[in-house]
Amino acid sequence: MPHNKQMAQGQPTSISPALWSSRFVFIMAAVGSAVGLGNIWKFPYITGENGGGAFVLVYLACIAVIGLPLMMSEVMVGRRGGKSPIGTMAEVAKAEGRSKHWVGVGIMATLAAFLILSFYSVIAGWTMPYIISAMSGSFSDISAEDSGALFGGLLASPWQLLLWHSIFMGLTVLVSAGGVRHGLERAVTKLMPALFILLLILVGYAATTGHFGEAVSFLFKPDFSALTAEAILTALGHAFFTLSLASGAMMAYGAYLPKHVSIARTAVVIAVMDTGVALLAGLAIFPIVFAHGLAAGEGPGLIFVTLPVAFGQMPGGGFFATLFFVLLLFAAWTSSISMLESLVSYLNEKGIGRVKAAIGGGLAAWLVGITTLLSLNVWSDFTPLDMFARFEGKTLFDLYDYLTANIMMPVVALLIALFVGWKMKPAHSASELGAWHKLWFPVVRYLSPIALLIVFYFNLK
Ligand code: TRP
Repeated sequence: MPHNKQMAQGQPTSISPALWSSRFVFIMAAVGSAVGLGNIWKFPYITGENGGGAFVLVYLACIAVIGLPLMMSEVMVGRRGGKSPIGTMAEVAKAEGRSKHWVGVGIMATLAAFLILSFYSVIAGWTMPYIISAMSGSFSDISAEDSGALFGGLLASPWQLLLWHSIFMGLTVLVSAGGVRHGLERAVTKLMPALFILLLILVGYAATTGHFGEAVSFLFKPDFSALTAEAILTALGHAFFTLSLASGAMMAYGAYLPKHVSIARTAVVIAVMDTGVALLAGLAIFPIVFAHGLAAGEGPGLIFVTLPVAFGQMPGGGFFATLFFVLLLFAAWTSSISMLESLVSYLNEKGIGRVKAAIGGGLAAWLVGITTLLSLNVWSDFTPLDMFARFEGKTLFDLYDYLTANIMMPVVALLIALFVGWKMKPAHSASELGAWHKLWFPVVRYLSPIALLIVFYFNLK
């Protein structure tokens, strides 16, 4: 048994990490991982790009039918293996008497997490100059045009981006090197609730713009004629991204989960909170977008262009803007830590100490991140895979995003569903999931793989 009481109470060591001290702490760490730029930055902008309602509905269906059961699967496999995602896949496959090639799932997941971290850090870095602008009152009465120019100026400056990217990666390495439980527990239990409340305040403000109804119908009134096969794949990929799935993060965190905690109930709480934050972010942002005649399909700059305009007109806007970008930075931070964890826990198993592993992994991700950062300016015309229609016009940043969210994560997800649905003894999964097993098993055995295969089929056609 990899887990016992003594470890639960012991200090985290570099070889055998301690368990989370309670279900609540695990939920907070997992919510900290799940809630991040994906909810507040990415969800609104891809919803805008993909036409709203129908996309949101597909996304919600993906969360419920594929995301939630997969989260249960990953946490369960992680807890059984009790190791890094790579070590866990090797361990659990062996215990089930299955091929040792299943370790490949752990490797691909770790690779996806690493790649995501590389560009996530660049974007998370944007929050820092925004904190400074907010504090110095630069947003007061800012026009939509000036806000767009401010954002454009940031993207055009590789040195500025490099500075913030470096600081953010440094922060990530710092927590990771100390062990995820250390520091993370306190941060997530206080800051996540604060972010939630601030979003509610923003939604309250958005309701006063007179365009709230328009935003609600944009988000929730489906127009299926606007839905493409590609949009469905994007919704699916985002469901994985936003829940931190198919990348080892939940497996790595599951390894620290005490045996008595109900995986299913915990996963439901995490998924509901994560989805709630994304929908709140949408409700806060789109009324502002419509009120100021901004483009819903603006792209990755959406919240960075729209929110300053809103803050600029709000009473106490400077204060709220500062708070908002600080909390967004923290939300991104508690996510990036979980991305690095797949790799760090693996290197740790290979005998490399936590500090060295975190620095090495962070440094490598930082280097790759520089290519993302350059693709926003100097290399913005460098679209190396133009010969394939699917990748046409995509910069390196676009390609990393597409490769991870639309290809690697769905593939990892499919393999995990096949593993737990067909290769693992049902008695074993039942012993982890209890009464929920009855509901979960047919979903991961049939529904999730079939849904994933259908999405793949229509995208490869
Ligand atoms: N879920 C986080 C967000 O929405 C991002 C994230 C954290 C993540 N850990 C991950 C994404 C692992 C992919 C893989 O911002």
